[in-house]
Amino acid sequence: MLVANSIEEVRKIISAQKKAGKRIGFVPTMGYLHEGHLSLVEISKKHTDFQVMSIFVNKIQFNDKKDFENYPRETERDLKLAESAGVELVFLPDDEEMYRDRLTYVDVLTLTDHLCGAFREGHFRGVFTVVSKLFNIVQPDVSVFGQKDIQQAAGIEKMVYDLNFPVRIIIAPTIREKEGLAMSSRNKHLSPEQRNRALAIHRSLQAAESMIESGEAGASVILQKMKQIIEEGKPDKVDYVSITSYDTLQPVDRIENKSVIAIAAFFGTTRLIDNMIIDKGDKGFKCIY
Ligand code: PAF
Repeated sequence: MLVANSIEEVRKIISAQKKAGKRIGFVPTMGYLHEGHLSLVEISKKHTDFQVMSIFVNKIQFNDKKDFENYPRETERDLKLAESAGVELVFLPDDEEMYRDRLTYVDVLTLTDHLCGAFREGHFRGVFTVVSKLFNIVQPDVSVFGQKDIQQAAGIEKMVYDLNFPVRIIIAPTIREKEGLAMSSRNKHLSPEQRNRALAIHRSLQAAESMIESGEAGASVILQKMKQIIEEGKPDKVDYVSITSYDTLQPVDRIENKSVIAIAAFFGTTRLIDNMIIDKGDKGFKCIY
């Protein structure tokens, strides 16, 4: 596996691979890899011939300085995991390489009005800016993002469409721990007791699924039940429990077309997010989470 710290090195390697007719798959990460990240590489391998991963804790997407400082970092371990997953090139830049003399940002409007966008000022702007840069550096044919960060994934899809990036975005299913907690690098900060309480998030999604399966479509009824279940886990704070349209990420009163149910809650000082996509099929609604 190759490891490149500079944009120039990445460009050289990618250009040689492209000349050899290889299709480039790309998984951007902030490191502290877990099975969720590795599942994105697995999906990328199905569609492309040369696997690239970036590991970069992107300062400009952290609205909280402490969160940035505490973000777990373990590069040696990450490199081993990336290699064993079949990654062929890791791009591992530092801040100076990515952001020297920067004046430009990328923003996606309205899609970021609600959910995490309403609570984490500047977060998505930081994400879309770094992902644009990474796409221009790596020039992937396919890039895979996890459903867990649904607003990020939807915003990147829209950005790619609006700015004509020649890359196909794939949104991959959320990978969960055995008891149902969505995998996240941040789970490392949870004590066993907080982890246990946080399972209420998954239980609330399961309850929403059963209500939807039995024909309930009213957002307020579903949300009331979900909030009650989340409260049983004694969260330290709930940022939101919302039902939105999938296309606009704006709140809806009823589940009629493709929708998203999304949650953000703190257990201790750790902010966890999770969601479910509700898709109308021939035989009623399908819940994907
Ligand atoms: O999902 C993440 O880990 C980050 O937001 C990303 C896409 C790597 C951008 O820094």
